[in-house]
Amino acid sequence: MRTQVGIVGAGPAGLMLAHLLHQQGIEAVILENRSRAYCEGRIRAGLLEQWSTDLLIALGVGARMQREAMFHDGNYVLFNGELHYLDFRELVGQGVTIYGQQEIVKDLIAQRLADGGQILFEVENVSVHDLDTEKPRIRFRHGGIDNDLVCDFIGGCDGFHGICRPSFPAGALATYEREYPFGWVGILSESPPPEDELIYAYHERGFALYTMRSPTRARLYVQCKPDDDVADWPDARIWEELHIRLAGVRKLEEGRIIDKVVTPMRSFVVEPMQSGRLFLAGDSAHIVPPTGAKGMNLAFADVMVLARAIEAFYRADRTDLLDGYSRVCLRRVWKAQRFSWWMTQMLHRFDFSNAFDMRRQLAELDYLATSHAAQITLAENYTGLPLELPE
Ligand code: APR
Ligand code: PHB
Repeated sequence: MRTQVGIVGAGPAGLMLAHLLHQQGIEAVILENRSRAYCEGRIRAGLLEQWSTDLLIALGVGARMQREAMFHDGNYVLFNGELHYLDFRELVGQGVTIYGQQEIVKDLIAQRLADGGQILFEVENVSVHDLDTEKPRIRFRHGGIDNDLVCDFIGGCDGFHGICRPSFPAGALATYEREYPFGWVGILSESPPPEDELIYAYHERGFALYTMRSPTRARLYVQCKPDDDVADWPDARIWEELHIRLAGVRKLEEGRIIDKVVTPMRSFVVEPMQSGRLFLAGDSAHIVPPTGAKGMNLAFADVMVLARAIEAFYRADRTDLLDGYSRVCLRRVWKAQRFSWWMTQMLHRFDFSNAFDMRRQLAELDYLATSHAAQITLAENYTGLPLELPE
């Protein structure tokens, strides 16, 4: 088999990369080791920065989002039993969109198939080879048959647990990492969310987030221990914590829980994001804690940079944009890391015995609730810094 760009992984990064390339007349094949149903059903975060929303619309894959998503102008911060509204639209002139990641995955898969593009699901034994040559190869097994996909470039879009990052030559990657002493237990509930827009709650018992998927489906998270299992969180315990952390502010309606997950919290970056003709994009290169809601947006930013660089290679024989890929991506990645870390450190209990930390966090939240400058800083980062693409 032969194609121009071989893409490992059909998550938001791989699917968006294929779509961007297709629009430039560049051929790609996506290899995904899970089934289509699995990819379309996996519930993850679902918050789009303004430019990501605009991008989906501009690329012709935003029609269902425009009908079904929830467009938010701001959000709430809750501490000391008081809700404070941050009006992003007024502060920085843009907002955010709530639209489940799996809905975007469904829309991008449907578009790709309508465009006649190839996605091979349920491939096995994927491995990448000859990265330092002009004809890198992806080996895989599909339908019981071993194949070689020879390409010009490989998009390593296979997430944090994928095979592309471990295929870099020994010693080629520097890893920057931070683990947090907590995770989130998250539920999807058949009940209305307590507010029209998100509530980020700081409480002496730990963080809680009140978000949503629709006016009748709440998505709720509470801070838990890092090694907790869903079995540690029976439904009644989750509701009890949510009621306590939202106490006196809004009435929380309980509903049937239709999904429950524990998410570990991690900050992770590798540098560089390129080895020869292999380019990492999205979670394969970096992970942010979900507090800043940046994961999918960073994946889109990476593939925008990559698609532009590949297009310049075919159109104008340019290699400078390919060479600059890591540098350009990592500038944005590190700003998103900083912001995600900042939101996380402000809103979670790290050490429950440390009263100094709690006083400091409450002061930071008080500053945010009362300072226009602090609110602009949060709003600018949360709704998305401008995407900078090299000429
Ligand atoms: N071979 C083929 N496919 C693989 C392999 C492999 N060896 N390993 C993983 N994959 C697939 C996964 O099954 C998954 O569908 O790669 C895909 C990676 O997708 P994501 O994990 O969603 O990563 P990415 O596309 O970078 O997502 C970006 O969106 O919702 C957020 O949390 C998500 O922050 C992440 C962001
Ligand atoms: C979500 O809707 O799942 C969500 C929103 C904001 C976050 C994290 C998750 O910071």
